[in-house]
Amino acid sequence: MFFGKRLKDEIDYNNLPEHIGIIMDGNGRWAKKRGLPRSAGHSAGAESLKKIITEANKIGIKYITVYAFSTENWKRPKAEVDYLMNLLLDYLKDAENSLAGENVVIRTIGSRKELSAEIQEQIKKTENFTSKNTGIVMNIALNYGAREEILNAARQLCEDVKNGKKNPEDITDEDFAGCLYTKNQPDVDLLIRTSGEQRLSNFMLWQVSYAEMWFTDKLWPDFKPKDLRQAICDFQNRGRRFGGV
Ligand code: FPP
Repeated sequence: MFFGKRLKDEIDYNNLPEHIGIIMDGNGRWAKKRGLPRSAGHSAGAESLKKIITEANKIGIKYITVYAFSTENWKRPKAEVDYLMNLLLDYLKDAENSLAGENVVIRTIGSRKELSAEIQEQIKKTENFTSKNTGIVMNIALNYGAREEILNAARQLCEDVKNGKKNPEDITDEDFAGCLYTKNQPDVDLLIRTSGEQRLSNFMLWQVSYAEMWFTDKLWPDFKPKDLRQAICDFQNRGRRFGGV
């Protein structure tokens, strides 16, 4: 019988999250379960990411930020760091042929100066190449840490105060947000983390202030477009109050 109500697992296209954040976790465990090296998990994770971006763009999501490499990930064995960096480089190069053609805008957030000259060059190239696109904006968080981002914002505002451009008491939320990597982008509405872990791990601490959190036990390479759709449906069935009633 049809009561004129939307089915619970059907997306309401008039109420989409504007910005989705994803902590892509579990590549290593995915590989271990199959007796494969961790690198195979990261490669499978990169493939999974492409499909998720394509799906998010088709759904009509405006912004998506994915955690690819944190400021803490340098502590991993050098071989794994090197593998991840090469994978990122290939991903950025390949995006010019694949995601760019799907109208995706690709940007990176995080500190660039610690990255190799080759990756820095490729980032500039891919960002320029996709800057005129009008589809989903994909932020790849690369050598990213939220505390560092917040500290940098505080430093910039202190400079403005020191130079007489601002009074401390006049500094607003918007001023602060304008000093973050995500300047001019909306806050994260929906934060997804895979692999059963339920923590933020220094990801977008300012931008997730009012985000709905969605966790799944699935490991990142097993996360499919239908899981993204499920997360969006669950988001739409939650009551967001932003501190009101
Ligand atoms: C966490 O899994 C994942 C990462 C540290 C890297 C995320 C990278 C990708 C999804 C692929 C590459 C991305 C791009 C943009 C090309 P983990 O290694 O911590 O897994 P574990 O917790 O099971 O060990």
